Amino acid sequence: MIISFLLYLLLPSLFSTLSISQPLRGRLIDCGATFDTDFNGLKWLSDKDFITTGLPRNLSIQYQDATLSTVRTFPYENNLHKKFCYVVPVYRTGKYLVRTTYFYGGVNENVNPPVFDQIVDGTFWVMVNTTNDYLRNLTSYYEGVFMATGKSMSVCLAANQYTDSDPFMSALELVLLDNSLYNSTDFTSFGLSLISRNSFGYNGSIIRYPDDVFDRYWEPYGDINSTASRIRDVEVSGFWNIPPLKVFQTQLSVNQPEQLEILWPSEPIPNSTYYIALYFADDPGSSRVFSVYINGVQYYNDLNMTSDGVSIIAKQWPLAGLTNITLSPAAGSRIGPLINAGEIFGILPLGGRTLTRDVIALEKLKESFVYPPVDWTGDPCLPRGYSWTGVSCSEGPRIRVTNLNLTGMGLSGSISPSIADLTGLSEIYLANNNLEGSIPDFSTLKLLEILHLEDNQITGEIPSSLGNMEKLRGVFLQNNNLTGQVPGNLIGKPGLDFRYSPGNPSLSIPQS
Ligand SMILES: *[C@@H]1O[C@H](CO)[C@@H](O)[C@H](O)[C@H]1NC(C)=O
Ligand SMILES: *[C@@H]1O[C@H](CO)[C@@H](O)[C@H](O)[C@H]1NC(C)=O
Ligand SMILES: *[C@@H]1O[C@H](CO)[C@@H](O)[C@H](O)[C@H]1NC(C)=O
Ligand SMILES: *[C@@H]1O[C@H](CO)[C@@H](O)[C@H](O)[C@H]1NC(C)=O
Ligand SMILES: *[C@@H]1O[C@H](CO)[C@@H](O)[C@H](O)[C@H]1NC(C)=O
Ligand SMILES: *[C@@H]1O[C@H](CO)[C@@H](O)[C@H](O)[C@H]1NC(C)=O
Ligand SMILES: *[C@@H]1O[C@H](CO)[C@@H](O)[C@H](O)[C@H]1NC(C)=O
Ligand SMILES: *[C@@H]1O[C@H](CO)[C@@H](O)[C@H](O)[C@H]1NC(C)=O
Ligand SMILES: *[C@@H]1O[C@H](CO)[C@@H](O)[C@H](O)[C@H]1NC(C)=O
Ligand SMILES: *[C@@H]1O[C@H](CO)[C@@H](O)[C@H](O)[C@H]1NC(C)=O
Ligand SMILES: *[C@@H]1O[C@H](CO)[C@@H](O)[C@H](O)[C@H]1NC(C)=O
Repeated sequence: MIISFLLYLLLPSLFSTLSISQPLRGRLIDCGATFDTDFNGLKWLSDKDFITTGLPRNLSIQYQDATLSTVRTFPYENNLHKKFCYVVPVYRTGKYLVRTTYFYGGVNENVNPPVFDQIVDGTFWVMVNTTNDYLRNLTSYYEGVFMATGKSMSVCLAANQYTDSDPFMSALELVLLDNSLYNSTDFTSFGLSLISRNSFGYNGSIIRYPDDVFDRYWEPYGDINSTASRIRDVEVSGFWNIPPLKVFQTQLSVNQPEQLEILWPSEPIPNSTYYIALYFADDPGSSRVFSVYINGVQYYNDLNMTSDGVSIIAKQWPLAGLTNITLSPAAGSRIGPLINAGEIFGILPLGGRTLTRDVIALEKLKESFVYPPVDWTGDPCLPRGYSWTGVSCSEGPRIRVTNLNLTGMGLSGSISPSIADLTGLSEIYLANNNLEGSIPDFSTLKLLEILHLEDNQITGEIPSSLGNMEKLRGVFLQNNNLTGQVPGNLIGKPGLDFRYSPGNPSLSIPQS
């Protein structure tokens, strides 16, 4: 049983607003580069403003594509499932094409490139394995479409159990897409992860910017028998998904009114649901009618294709393994079918995100620490298993921070009062660091049970509000530099394990 959603769109569009030469809106980041470069008419930025960890490295060979000559690498040792994130400013609710590019170039000593995980915001996107491409001296890229849920988007790498040398990245691109692109997808719940995007019957180099105004890559997909180059003047700007005009200049077709079959995408794909868009345009004055089947299942019946151009889109189509597209001419046709281009994306359920209030509070806490843990970037709780060092979180739809354990992390600096906004916290372990400053007011943390601040250099008085916190079972303040009187409501409070000595020589105990 196949459940699918079909859309049929014929858009002659006389009211186009997009100019073909519009500049890209977004950020092209050249990982590891120390300065900005112009390459192929595009401006590439050094990555230094978008990341605080990792090492910029130069490959020993300089490549023609300037963005491939440098990479940023991240230490894999002792960092299993720790995220290293690029954080890029975006327009909230903007729809972005995100592309990561990898060219290993032997930057680590290993012969083979490392395998590692790639994460976008709170979502596990894909495992990056560039081994095969690198063996053939090819660049690998991963491309997806994601909506920005905040003012920044994070794209992260993390070591997994297969990682055997430092994860690296060569380039990261975020390009703002037009609202109409891929708009049948609900980007609040799903992302799209590119499987294949091809210009059929085309054998040149990848079609991209400026032919594609969003710099999507359209790879050649040839077939010697049916390649043909035509001059077609399709008005693409009103086309759904705005494919580049250039893809309509070649096609796969058959001359006789018979079936056209293509194996596409060329590699087997996992059992999942996919978004598929196919693009067609006939020669001026010509039209043809045919039906489209995917693996023998009807996808569109009697498509009448004219020189205006048409795209057909499947929002969610189940596929597994090798895929076979068949174009079958309608009875009585005098010419065979043709196809110009296609895109297929995997539909990726989003992992969600940590409650914004908690994220903001943790960011402020991070700012108050000197040398916070290196992986404190990206989403604090998600994806599951990739939370920030020392941060534990709740399950369920509302993701809250429940536990903070930074015991003995060599932290200095102070504890930001914003910690009091983490109202889901039940345990705080900050013992055995070099924290200074005073104890913040924790009274908003109604769920707090355990507070460990011992073995630091905390100064000031002990807030008496601690004595009114109902759930509190343990308060540990030994070996600090606290002053003033110990609040009477803490001493001998039933059910509370309260310790303030040894240490704290200047603390005075109230007379009972
Ligand atoms: C890489 O090369 C550039 C230019 O040749 C140089 O400015 C930069 O310092 C080098 N970076 C590293 C990490 O060696
Ligand atoms: C990575 O790809 C190579 C080549 O296809 C394969 O041999 C290897 O098993 C893959 N690694 C993982 C962890 O999937
Ligand atoms: C690998 O590809 C690069 C860039 O296309 C090229 O400069 C280089 O000569 C190639 N190396 C080999 C061994 O094919
Ligand atoms: C998607 O974009 C097209 C082209 O602009 C528009 O006609 C259509 O109504 C949009 N669909 C949705 C669901 O927004
Ligand atoms: C592409 O195909 C055309 C037409 O068949 C042919 O003339 C040309 O040499 C091919 N180019 C490449 C790079 O294969
Ligand atoms: C290409 O043409 C040859 C000879 O006509 C034929 O044997 C072959 O099956 C064709 N290939 C495809 C993919 O249509
Ligand atoms: C794909 O997965 C679904 C549900 O898990 C299953 O019913 C179906 O048989 C699978 N299809 C293939 C071709 O493996
Ligand atoms: C493609 O699908 C059609 C219809 O199911 C089938 O007849 C044909 O053998 C398939 N071709 C390939 C190469 O799988
Ligand atoms: C297909 O559309 C063209 C242009 O609208 C029209 O002239 C032609 O009659 C249509 N063909 C069929 C079979 O409907
Ligand atoms: C806190 O973290 C330290 C160091 O990682 C660990 O030894 C300790 O068991 C953790 N404590 C709790 C309560 O999770
Ligand atoms: C506590 O403060 C005093 C005076 O401000 C200082 O001399 C001492 O070194 C501090 N002790 C610790 C453990 O920081």
